[in-house]
Amino acid sequence: MDHSAVSPQSENPIQYSSSGTACLLPEKEITALRPELYNIRQLIAERDIPLFLSSSSHDVPDDMQPLDCGFIQLPDQLLQDYRKHGGTSELGKLLQIATRIRNQVDHVIFLGIGGSYIGAQALFDALLNPFHNELSRSERSELSRDRGGPIPKFYFEGNGIDNDSLTLLIQRIQTQCQNPDTPEQRWGLVVTSKSGSTIETAAAFEIFLRLAESYYLNQKDLLKDVVIPITGPDGYLRELSQNRNFRHVFTIPNGVGGRFSVLSAAGLFPAALMGLDIIALLEGAASMNQRFQQEPLSNNPPLQHAGVGFLLEKQHHITTRVLAVWSKTLESLGWWYDQLLSESLGKQHHYGSTPITIVHTRDLHSRGQQHQQGRRDKLITNLISQNIRETEQYCHHIPGTPLTEKTSLADLRQAAIRGTNQAYYEDQRPTADLMIPEISEHTLGQLLQMLMLSTVIEGRLQGINPYGQPGVENYKRHMRDSLHKEST
Ligand code: PA5
Repeated sequence: MDHSAVSPQSENPIQYSSSGTACLLPEKEITALRPELYNIRQLIAERDIPLFLSSSSHDVPDDMQPLDCGFIQLPDQLLQDYRKHGGTSELGKLLQIATRIRNQVDHVIFLGIGGSYIGAQALFDALLNPFHNELSRSERSELSRDRGGPIPKFYFEGNGIDNDSLTLLIQRIQTQCQNPDTPEQRWGLVVTSKSGSTIETAAAFEIFLRLAESYYLNQKDLLKDVVIPITGPDGYLRELSQNRNFRHVFTIPNGVGGRFSVLSAAGLFPAALMGLDIIALLEGAASMNQRFQQEPLSNNPPLQHAGVGFLLEKQHHITTRVLAVWSKTLESLGWWYDQLLSESLGKQHHYGSTPITIVHTRDLHSRGQQHQQGRRDKLITNLISQNIRETEQYCHHIPGTPLTEKTSLADLRQAAIRGTNQAYYEDQRPTADLMIPEISEHTLGQLLQMLMLSTVIEGRLQGINPYGQPGVENYKRHMRDSLHKEST
């Protein structure tokens, strides 16, 4: 794949429309916020980024700590380095290692929790065949012929403490993998933890590492290849990796927080193992950066999305953010956003909307009732992919319904989108639309970067530091104390 000629300017830009919020939010309110939004954009460019890039975190004032805005420039930096240094760049190496691992193992267990985990799951669910793990190795090889060899099966664990699901995964791996001499029966372990010491991930890692050590007992060299940590520049996991001489260890750079790490090695390496076009993903993100920096409010999704959410919450007490995804495969991307918004903005008792993700039309038959007639505290943002990817399916004529053999499922979905928005509009329930031209690496790169930027902008509008998650640390501390007490 030659990407050297591709410009970051997007040919298939995603679009944001807030026309469905007009019932509560007159255009003039959004226009009045414009100077502040532009000011924040400038502050991010002229203060946050330079402070972050300055020699050390000691230069960052206390009230701005932590300052994890490294995610903003990361896509552009990685792409520049790749274009300049090719195979010896960070991305070049990552791609080579991913190809090598894909040819070595047929099963990958991916461990992590929170922001260090959910991005990889979101990419897997959005961009791979939903039946991927049911396909044989030869079917998977056939599908990924032009993408550097077979794509392994993927299993996600370590994102909680569930003895039974972990045990069943071990059983599954032991049933499928009995002869480590053949790639079809080999498995690899990818563990992601920025701090390297999060208990859930660390516990799952130790369990699977022991299993791997016994499986590859006579192939110690191979073991060093197929256990792949992705972690911060220091910490327990980094030290352990050095002591065990694992051959491939990827770094989540300082200044890139867990929930902002999907376009660092934390998301990119698993994505490359999945055979995804990570260059297109980064190019999508870079094109969103360009729009954020250069475009006026009317064509600037990060500023628009942040401004609308902020005003509706502050002035109209709309404190629930519903992300209604109109494709099943985007549900975990919604969970990724739930995590991003909750941990970034939920820090003061009087601010921080509650995010939820729903899948339409499935959830019109459950939460839909509440959204249509319940408490008036919700902004519903539709996430809509405009084009279908697979063969178009048509209905049959069903007497007594408007369905005919000319009605495609895409038409049906379009009617459902229009009908739902109209129903909300008639009852003055605010809606916004986020339109992506298709579900692809490039559009998801745009979307991920847009949502991360927008979250930071909204935090700055509110005077909240969007980085760090001090509240989460409380449960970690108490959990450790409780374990200490039990063990003494
Ligand atoms: O967004 C965050 O920073 C958190 O959700 C972390 O990703 C999560 O707590 C896991 O931390 P770590 O990557 O250090 O294991």
